[in-house]
This record gives sequence, C-alpha cells and structure tokens, in this order.
Amino acid sequence: MTAERARITIFDTTLRDGEQSPGCSMNQPEKLRLAHQLDSLGVDVIEAGFPIASDGDFESVKAIALAVRRPIIAGLARACRPDIERAWEALQHAARPRIHVFLATSDIHLTYKLRITRDECVEQARDAIRFAKSLCDDVEFSPEDATRTDPDFLCRVLEAVVEAGATTLNIPDTVGYTVPAEFGELITTIRQRVKGIESVTISAHCHNDLGMAVANALAAVSAGARQVECTINGIGERAGNASLEEIVMAMRVRPDRFAYETGVVGEQIFAASQMLSEITGVPVQPNKAIIGRNAFAHEAGIHQDGMLKNPLTYEIMTPKSVGVPDSKLVLGKHSGRHALSIRCEQLGYQLDRRGLDDIYRRFVRLADKIKHVEDHHLLELIRDTHKPSGSATPLIEPLALAKAAAVNASSAAPERSSEPMPEPAQPFPMAPKIPTQPQTNAFGVSVPVHGDSRHEQTQQEDYLWGV
Ligand code: KIV
Ligand code: ZN
Repeated sequence: MTAERARITIFDTTLRDGEQSPGCSMNQPEKLRLAHQLDSLGVDVIEAGFPIASDGDFESVKAIALAVRRPIIAGLARACRPDIERAWEALQHAARPRIHVFLATSDIHLTYKLRITRDECVEQARDAIRFAKSLCDDVEFSPEDATRTDPDFLCRVLEAVVEAGATTLNIPDTVGYTVPAEFGELITTIRQRVKGIESVTISAHCHNDLGMAVANALAAVSAGARQVECTINGIGERAGNASLEEIVMAMRVRPDRFAYETGVVGEQIFAASQMLSEITGVPVQPNKAIIGRNAFAHEAGIHQDGMLKNPLTYEIMTPKSVGVPDSKLVLGKHSGRHALSIRCEQLGYQLDRRGLDDIYRRFVRLADKIKHVEDHHLLELIRDTHKPSGSATPLIEPLALAKAAAVNASSAAPERSSEPMPEPAQPFPMAPKIPTQPQTNAFGVSVPVHGDSRHEQTQQEDYLWGV
C-alpha cells in the first residue's frame, strides 16, 4: 500500500510578482488570457495583481475575479487601509477571494525603508490583518524579507497575525539570500514556536538571486510548508521567482524524495510557458529546465544513440508529460550515424550503407562550419549525394522507392535484414545489448526497435566512437 501524499497548494504569482520583472508587464486582456490558461493548468491560487498599484492592475484583478471561478483569486496589499480596501474592491466578486497583506519585518527594512520600530511593526501587521479579516475570510500575511529577519521577532509578528485572523503565513525569501538547509530550519522553527500555527497554512515564496529558489521552496515543503508561491518560466523580480514547472516536476519525477501532490496538469505546462513568452515577448532561455528549447534535445552521438534505443537512457520525464510535442534530436558535429540515418528516414530517405557513410562525411564537415544542421541543409546534402557522378546505383533512395523495392525484392530473395549478422565484438563488459523485440519504456511509451542489421551496426558504431 502506498502512503498518502500531502497536497501542496500551488500559488501562482506570474501575474503579480512575475509581472514585476523587467519587460514582463501585461495589459488586462493579456492577463485575463493567461489567467484562463493558469486555470487550465490547475493552479490552486492565482495572484492576479496589486490593485492599488495602478488602475490597469485594479481592472485586471477585477476582470479575473469575475471570469475565472475555480481557483482562489488573490490580490496584494501593503499593510494599510487604502491598499486593503482597494484590493477588496477588486476581489469582492470572486468566487473565492483572498487578500494578501505584506509588511517588511527585517531590521534593514524597518530602519531604512519603513522607519518604524519593531513594536510599531507588530501593531501595524496586527491591525492590517484584523481589517482585512473584517472584509474577507481568506487572508494571507507575508513578512517581507523574512529570511533576514531576527527569527525571534519573526515568530512574534507571525503569532500576532495568526491571532488577528490570518489563514496563510507566507515566508518570503525576498532577496534570494537563504539556502535550503537554513530555510528548512526556519520553517521548522516557525512550526515549533508560533502559537496557533496548526490552524494555518505555511507557505514559501523564494527568489532566485543565488539560483536556489526551487531548492529552497522544496526544502520548505519538506519541513512542513504546504503552499508554494511560484511563477511560470520562473519570471519575477530581479533573478525571478521559483519556477512552477520545476517545483511540480521535481515532485512528480522524485516522489521518493518529495511525496507530495499538486493539482497541476503537467500536459498544460508547455502551453502556459509558450503563452507567457508570446504575450511578454520575453523568450525562455534555451537550457531552461522542463520547458527550454533544449530541455528534451539531444546532440551528443552517445546520447542520441541511447535515446533512440530507449528514451529512459537520457530522459527522466517524457516531453509529453509536460506538454512538449516531441523530443528533438539536434544534429550537430557531435551527432552520430544512427541519428543521422533516422533523421534522413524522417525526411523520407532511406540510406544504404555507402550512402550513409558518404552523407555522414559531408554532414560532419558542414556541422563543423554551421553548428546545427537543419532539415533543409540535410535535404541539400541528400540531393547532392543522390546524383553521384558515373555511379549506376544511387547511394540514397527516397523512402517510398526504397519500400517498393524492398517489397519486390522480398518475393524474389530473402530480406537482407533477416540474414544473421555476426555479433559485433563487445567494446567492454558493460556494452548494451541491442533490443530486437518491441519495447516500451517505464512511461509505457513504445521505443524504436532496430532489429534491422543496418541499424544495429550503425548504433554499435555510434556507441563505440562516441561521435
Ligand atoms: O518577495 C516578496 O517578499 C514578495 C512579497 C510581497 C510576498 O513578493
Ligand atoms: Zn516576491
């Protein structure tokens, strides 16, 4: 029997903290469009904006509150009456509204930014939550810069706001300063010391200034946080927020370490990422985990060879599981014959042994010059190679012709591939056995079978040469 997994609330702040990142601002129709996609993605909370910040943001939060009815819709407010009133005005018609109040608690922020004492901070936080609670049942409090706040004082503020009616305590690593072990300990301290903590949800809100936002958020979850705040593509202030897709997929791919569930529909991740990029015009870095252009691309010959034999060799999740159409073999100078012959087949050309050798030599020369060989380059190479001077036999046959030839030949003579091939010498004891029967991988996806001797030989060569 499998142990029950704790449910983690996914609080998406793409439309608020994410929108604060340079170049990512969105207008109302764009926000609404993305909010609908976030709904399809299955997030639990959409932080739709900061209503007091501008009339545009107010209208966006209001429009989302009216149109997107399944998730909780949150609006941000500073710990003061006008902000909270404005947030409520925008949120009041939501099916499930939440007011999110924040106030800085670190001495740096109290001294230089807010110019208030610790006692004044506690009082202001408590009053703000009481007021928010008088308008809305669901109230979240964030002590801004929590990770640089004296833990004793942090616990004091948190206790005051729980008593005042906060239902979620969000712990922000506002400046991306903490590290996983430390952040986990902070969550544990809060759980041990704050009176009334059992009746509220602890949340983590991590920024990525040291590249540890996702690791910190996961450490918080392991220590008992049950909500994570995150954004699509990891966008957000400065280096961004913890990326939604990375958190969700870490839990999915490593349930042995993170035995948690979310309501996120994995197959909608790529669409959400693409829509955000399209709306903001900010591209996703190619090597971005989960949704970058290269996240499922394999260029090295050994990798391509392994992928073609069984994707489990180099892929820990399927592209399909996050909505990416298909895995891509990138053809470059590190690619091997195996990948090249498969791509040629995909382009409609079956290469015989000589044809493959010939085109492979030309391909490597070209890849050296232009890095990535695209399909149109390959087609040119194929066309060139297709008319060898003075040769009676074409080196490459268009696939349809080759198939017809094979059918004709099969009635007259045994197929070449059915002839036994001598076992290639083992390169070293761990050399893999090439499967000849239909295979499915651990995701239940069928993987290519290469009983064909030409494939087997090509694969073995790629493996040996590591090209
Ligand atoms: O990073 C931060 O501290 C915030 C708060 C408003 C939650 O975004
Ligand atoms: Zn933030």
